[in-house]
Amino acid sequence: MSTIKLINVGEIATYNGQTKTINYIADSDILIDDGIIEKIDQDIDDDCEIFDCKNKLVTPGFVDPHTHPVFLDGREEEFRLRMQGATYQEIAEKGGGINSSVNGVRNASTEELVALVSKRMDRFLKLGTTTIEAKSGYGLSVESELKSLEVIDLVNQSHIIDIIPTFLGAHSIPPEYKNDHDGYIDLLCNEMIPAVADQGIAKFCDVFCENGYFSVEQSRRILETAKEYGLIPRLHADEFEDSGAAELAAELGAVSADHLMAVSDVGIAKMADANVTATLLPGTTFFLGSTNYAPVKKLMEAGVEIALATDYNPGSCHIQSMPFIISLSCIYMGMSVEDALISVTFNSAKTLNLEKEIGSIEVGKKANLIIWNLEKLINIPYNVTDIPILKIMKNGTFVS
Ligand code: NIG
Ligand code: FE
Repeated sequence: MSTIKLINVGEIATYNGQTKTINYIADSDILIDDGIIEKIDQDIDDDCEIFDCKNKLVTPGFVDPHTHPVFLDGREEEFRLRMQGATYQEIAEKGGGINSSVNGVRNASTEELVALVSKRMDRFLKLGTTTIEAKSGYGLSVESELKSLEVIDLVNQSHIIDIIPTFLGAHSIPPEYKNDHDGYIDLLCNEMIPAVADQGIAKFCDVFCENGYFSVEQSRRILETAKEYGLIPRLHADEFEDSGAAELAAELGAVSADHLMAVSDVGIAKMADANVTATLLPGTTFFLGSTNYAPVKKLMEAGVEIALATDYNPGSCHIQSMPFIISLSCIYMGMSVEDALISVTFNSAKTLNLEKEIGSIEVGKKANLIIWNLEKLINIPYNVTDIPILKIMKNGTFVS
């Protein structure tokens, strides 16, 4: 692979592993060799291909650590119902919600889903996301969950974006187990998890631990089984109600507990003790028309590290833009733009156990970069919906 030098870099904004803060580096060139950052310095003398950044801002590519992209159709009708006053939970109780996406995935062919997910990945990449976590979770049968993971794997192989697969068979109780919840937990633990491990695609196992979905006891059993099979636990935790899911994340040593709009003080303290990252999803709060954002200040004061993600899915959050997530976290959660940048790059990579390879612009890391048509980091949230990206580089190659 070739060597390329980025010159006239106005400002690099990146997490720095030594200072553990965002560093602003002015007037430095970036030398990239074989997809890896080789040197960051003033006036690098190297006779190679040159790209002129025209004094613009350069940041790491975004790492989106929580998405649900394997679905067939959108759920615009639920969106319409919410505009008329129905809540997400009410819609789910009446047969909408997660289960209403299950038939679509079960009846779709692998090829059909691959085409849809690829298109969704094109859009993520255009918006600056260079690495993304993707969950199964709309199949809810052995066959359809394996199919969903296969779709993720096929798209990962053919698409320039890097996709990290998560098994989310415990997303909802499927209709055929409506009167036998424990039967579905048995299926998950005795058949699905062993089959998923055997398939060898998923790295993580997630559970929607929430009243009406999976209890703490059920989630514990599922995630302990997953751990035995080599899958790393992460959780949808305390989204609508405090059910003690954050405490469970700590007990299990999960890499991340996500949502946390209703997390308790005890849950926060336990997450801090066990080093569980809080992955916050302000897009979901916004999309559901709520004002109940996760308590980011409390979490940070307790010493919990914060990641941010889109939670892209057809029901509760049809948002793919990490720049918009930065805007929401600044405007509604009061995060500084520097903390937000750490949360969408280094900390999000950390929840995927990838922080040694990606998530910052440092020597030795993969050259996943965004060259903005902006001068200053604050202009990302300030622009809200306008996303002025000049160029995106993935593993040293320009992809836009
Ligand atoms: O993260 N909370 C659980 N799962 C999704 C919702 C998925 C759906 O409604 O289809 C979420 O918000
Ligand atoms: Fe989710």
